[in-house]
Amino acid sequence: MIDLLVTNIGQLCTVPAHDGGPQRGAALGDLGLLADAAVAIHRGAIVEVGPSARLERAYAARTVLDAGGMLVTPGLVDPHTHVVWAGNRADEFEQRIAGATYQQIMAAGGGINRTVRETRAASKEALIAATRARLLTMLAHGTTTVECKTGYGLETRTELTMLEVIRTLDEELPLDLVPTFLGAHAVPPEYTGDPDAYVALLTDEMLPAVAAWGATYWPQGIFCDVFCEVGAFDLEQTRRILTAAQRLGMPLKVHVDEFEPLGGARLAAELGAVSADHVVVTPDDEIEALGRSNTAVVSLPCTPFGLGHTRYTPARRFLEAGAALAVATDCNPGTGWNENMQFVLALATRYLRLTPAEALAAATINAAFAVGRGDRVGSLEAGKQADLVIWTVPAYQHLSYRFGSNLARTVIQRGRVVYELRDRLDVLTQR
Ligand code: NIG
Ligand code: FE
Repeated sequence: MIDLLVTNIGQLCTVPAHDGGPQRGAALGDLGLLADAAVAIHRGAIVEVGPSARLERAYAARTVLDAGGMLVTPGLVDPHTHVVWAGNRADEFEQRIAGATYQQIMAAGGGINRTVRETRAASKEALIAATRARLLTMLAHGTTTVECKTGYGLETRTELTMLEVIRTLDEELPLDLVPTFLGAHAVPPEYTGDPDAYVALLTDEMLPAVAAWGATYWPQGIFCDVFCEVGAFDLEQTRRILTAAQRLGMPLKVHVDEFEPLGGARLAAELGAVSADHVVVTPDDEIEALGRSNTAVVSLPCTPFGLGHTRYTPARRFLEAGAALAVATDCNPGTGWNENMQFVLALATRYLRLTPAEALAAATINAAFAVGRGDRVGSLEAGKQADLVIWTVPAYQHLSYRFGSNLARTVIQRGRVVYELRDRLDVLTQR
């Protein structure tokens, strides 16, 4: 007797790993499609995936869930978010629409440091409540694994509070959270004019404190990330921070080439970072370097979209170079407040020129590898965690083709139904 059988799946995307790794370069977009399929689930894990008729005969299930002939995919994985923050920057959005640039607003004390002020002033309970609301919105849109960065504390105490918010919500909510320490998000106001002193604080105090916290509360490992950018941290400072983190055993991520190319992509490949993120203005030789490396490339199309820019990650060039490409929301209060990975698929097909199949694989199996979880989530294969979404649409192309409204019908995490679009179900599935 198994716990759950999801049957009558019109189209099932298993999105397999390739040789135990991501789908690289031209191989991206292998959805492992099955028609008239079923998924057998027991104790939170996938037992078998196969034809509906055969699995219905083979398994007695405590619960049978009829997918109504619709599409089923792995739960979406969002491998880059800044989801923990207090307040909002709606006024800065108005200024940007009127012509101010993101960098001008940042130089004038707004931007990241504005959210730092509001986050430092917020109670832990208030931060938990604000973050919970955003994570539940993600879940309702089909996301089951979320990378969550700190980076609005920029002092040891508040950075540790942000990690505790992530730990609390990982325990409370039916989502898997992956914590990343981003103390190197900006130079905080008390260090204006002396960024090297802040880098020293990061390497000598904050990183050891985070590593000690992690040893007690998050032994699975905490990523360290740096915003390598003009106005944030230069290449040499980025190297100092990342190598200090590496000495403490932390795996690495890096924000590179969002606005100006500083050589961060090459550094990410050289240090064996798990991912290099943004990669909008990356020079050709560094695209090649990332393509040859094991560093995943995470593109964040909501960011140029949110800023009203027209330049996006040159995704096809990364794929030609053989890179493992993933996509994410970058959900944050400054450049793009969006919780919905379906909208990322819509942008990725139009502006990164990915096919709908490539975009879906970039948002599932490759996104899982970009947060070091490719062995557990991101695909529907026997032995993996049972994270899957039943959609209100019949085929995967719809997830990119349509945009602006939620297409998720039922979200299953670790074998449990955790979200269901109950009220509109009958109407929606008859289209
Ligand atoms: O990824 N690049 C740095 N961080 C965010 C923006 C954060 C903010 O503006 O609050 C990003 O775009
Ligand atoms: Fe970011």
